[in-house]
Amino acid sequence: MKILIVGGGGREHALAWRIGQSPRVDTLMAAPGNPGIARHAQCVPIGVEAHDELVAFARRERVDLVVIGPEAPLAAGLADRFAVAGLAVFGPSARAAAIEGSKAFAKDLMRRHGIPTARFATFDDAERARRFCREMGAPLVVKTDGLAAGKGAIVCPTLEDAEAAVAQCMEQRAFGTAGARVVVEEFMTGQEVSFFVLSNGSDVMALAAAEDHKAVFDGDRGPNTGGMGCYSPVLAFDEALEKRVMETIVRPTLAALAREGAPYRGVLYVGLMLTAHGPKVVEFNCRFGDPECQALMVRAPGDLVPLLLAAARGEAWPAYHPWPSTASVCVNIASRGYPGAYPTGLAIRGVEAAEARPGVQVFHAGTATKHGMLVTAGGRVLGVTAVADHMDAAIAAAYAAVGEIAFEGMHYRTDVGRRSA
Ligand code: AMP
Ligand code: GLY
Repeated sequence: MKILIVGGGGREHALAWRIGQSPRVDTLMAAPGNPGIARHAQCVPIGVEAHDELVAFARRERVDLVVIGPEAPLAAGLADRFAVAGLAVFGPSARAAAIEGSKAFAKDLMRRHGIPTARFATFDDAERARRFCREMGAPLVVKTDGLAAGKGAIVCPTLEDAEAAVAQCMEQRAFGTAGARVVVEEFMTGQEVSFFVLSNGSDVMALAAAEDHKAVFDGDRGPNTGGMGCYSPVLAFDEALEKRVMETIVRPTLAALAREGAPYRGVLYVGLMLTAHGPKVVEFNCRFGDPECQALMVRAPGDLVPLLLAAARGEAWPAYHPWPSTASVCVNIASRGYPGAYPTGLAIRGVEAAEARPGVQVFHAGTATKHGMLVTAGGRVLGVTAVADHMDAAIAAAYAAVGEIAFEGMHYRTDVGRRSA
């Protein structure tokens, strides 16, 4: 088989590493890929936004399956484009990807179908949004309707913060048109869990759960990032809870999408808050999490390719292995200044030594090669990922590997996985 992966971050590196191990795969390609992915796949310099070029390339190469990593091309209809061209594609249509691409769409769908989530209202008018904030009272969360590169959810401890967030989104247009409409919702407390399921349009298969560490500094301090690290599995998310989430959230959501003419094919990221009143949806995403995918790929049993194909083609699930009781962690190493502005082009040392450690994979998130040398090229640079029989061993292995790596100004959280107990 010939498989094309679309994307070039840590998530796509983990997918390429895993998919590349399948005995079914003869040729693995990635667009645009990155220096880490290049070790497992042929990288072609086509960006994820160049839909015409991607489709032309996949047709010319007669790929058997396209796997789309990031949300932006999915929300913009890239899966539909491949499908029209007659290619099998792992990733939802634009209509189904609206579950992430439009918060208002996702929240309305949950309301219509009684799926547990935070109380909310949607606004096109800033004055009305502010009035609702005053009625609800703080704390609140103000969210842009559209995609805002992970920055569109503003947690507001006070009413003043909420009013400022409304102004920032709707009047100052800090997130462009994504913030022209906002969702204002109740603030939920509890443990956050990212749960991943595969859907083939009519049936669902649970994968596993992970917990992301979003804040930049230890102890969940500092601004939110795309994710500084994560671990899997999550002890609190036991079999009984998984069953409850499947029955009260996942199945009804997928059935609702199918009934509304947007059957979901791909991986659904179910962002949950384990509240005192049971699990509630924080958000849905139309793709694997990054870095959750890295922690999942090192734990996943067996060959994933038949599952991805079944999801893409709308076919019955092949037999699959139960997930092992192993534990994994992914520690992201970031550039100085991230999640704000950061320098690039700095030499990275020690990746080989890190990877030589047992159970360790170093996934490239933001790297490039310059004069044959590996250099930094993003905010999150490397996802140092380790798998072991127990969480403590996985944490120790990951941090020992992190200790091998050096570049100027690098920083990372030292408490990834500590919440796992
Ligand atoms: P989202 O973009 O919806 O994933 O939100 C980003 C982050 O904001 C989430 O991972 C949560 O940590 C936080 N968040 C979003 N909505 C809520 C909520 N209703 N209550 C508490 N925290 C939230
Ligand atoms: N790690 C959070 C996300 O992928 O959205």
